[in-house]
Amino acid sequence: MLDGEKILITGASGKIAFPIARALAGSNEVWGAARLTSAASRDKLAAAGIRPVPLDVSRADFSALPDDFTYVFHAATAEGVEGWRYTIETNAQASGQLLHHCRKAKGFVYCSTGSIYAYQGQRPLTEDDPPGVPLRAEYSFSKVAAEAVCTWVSRQFGVPVTIIRICSTYGPEGGAPAARLERMLEGKPVLLHPDKPNNYNPIYEDDYVELGIRALEVASTPPLVVNWAGSETVSAEDYCTYMGGLVGVEPVFEYTSAAHTPLWPDVTLMHKVLGETKVHWRDGFRRMLEARYPHTLRKQ
Ligand SMILES: NC(=O)c1ccc[n+]([C@@H]2O[C@H](COP(=O)([O-])OP(=O)(O)OC[C@H]3O[C@@H](n4cnc5c(N)ncnc54)[C@H](OP(=O)(O)O)[C@@H]3O)[C@@H](O)[C@H]2O)c1
Repeated sequence: MLDGEKILITGASGKIAFPIARALAGSNEVWGAARLTSAASRDKLAAAGIRPVPLDVSRADFSALPDDFTYVFHAATAEGVEGWRYTIETNAQASGQLLHHCRKAKGFVYCSTGSIYAYQGQRPLTEDDPPGVPLRAEYSFSKVAAEAVCTWVSRQFGVPVTIIRICSTYGPEGGAPAARLERMLEGKPVLLHPDKPNNYNPIYEDDYVELGIRALEVASTPPLVVNWAGSETVSAEDYCTYMGGLVGVEPVFEYTSAAHTPLWPDVTLMHKVLGETKVHWRDGFRRMLEARYPHTLRKQ
């Protein structure tokens, strides 16, 4: 566990970065950056011991930020719905600019995504698989570009970087599995890709906090590029059925090629460099429901 470091976390109010920032704030000076347009998001950070830093990453102007952070976890992102130019500038150029600004850091994590992979059918995706567009072109291409820009800055200025290709997170802050449960609770079908089963390796909050911090510690030049996911594979069909059993709703699956292709990562390298995850998927899903939707749980 890092201790006594000065750490910048971007996207600090988000699903992934917030629990990581909160965990680090116990023994480090943690600055949490995001646009933070609501008082509630600023208060959420402050209450967790994180220093709120209003910052719009898309402007790529980091001159008001100190440049002596010892670690940086860069999770802020454009999602691809804001148009090509904005998405590429925010995710690629601005990330490179931030990495350059923080080039004294001992470790910088860039949050990429498993959504950069071209679908390879029913097998796990490895870090060497080629890029493609499983859902939204702007998002996928901008993350490929961001990886390239960050790699260049890392090599050029000797900044240790880890690029994590995040696959599917879930927990009290939510995530794709929570969104699927919400559709079930609303009586709507869960949209899945026709190439079933839709295998995933979802990673629960406790594990993503641990592996996120580990990713900071093992950063290297040139960057370490690694899938970031749970150690266990479970299909969306199976976990929705399991969650349905907990809340008394039978899931209805609608198979459509408009859905994301199954995001089934190979975690061999992750196990070697970051370690294995510990939370068994059934425990994680039950805990997510207890935290987010306690009123929906059936008496067992
Ligand atoms: N969740 C997943 O399963 C998953 C999967 C693959 C990849 N990822 C990647 O992981 C990272 C975090 O994802 P997440 O799911 O935790 O995201 P999230 O919950 O949507 O949170 C996004 C965070 O980024 C901030 N943000 C958005 N635009 C910003 C901007 N222009 N400038 C500064 N901050 C900005 C948001 O706060 P404000 O709105 O206040 O600015 C918020 O703190 C992203 O890079 C994403 O691409 C996530």
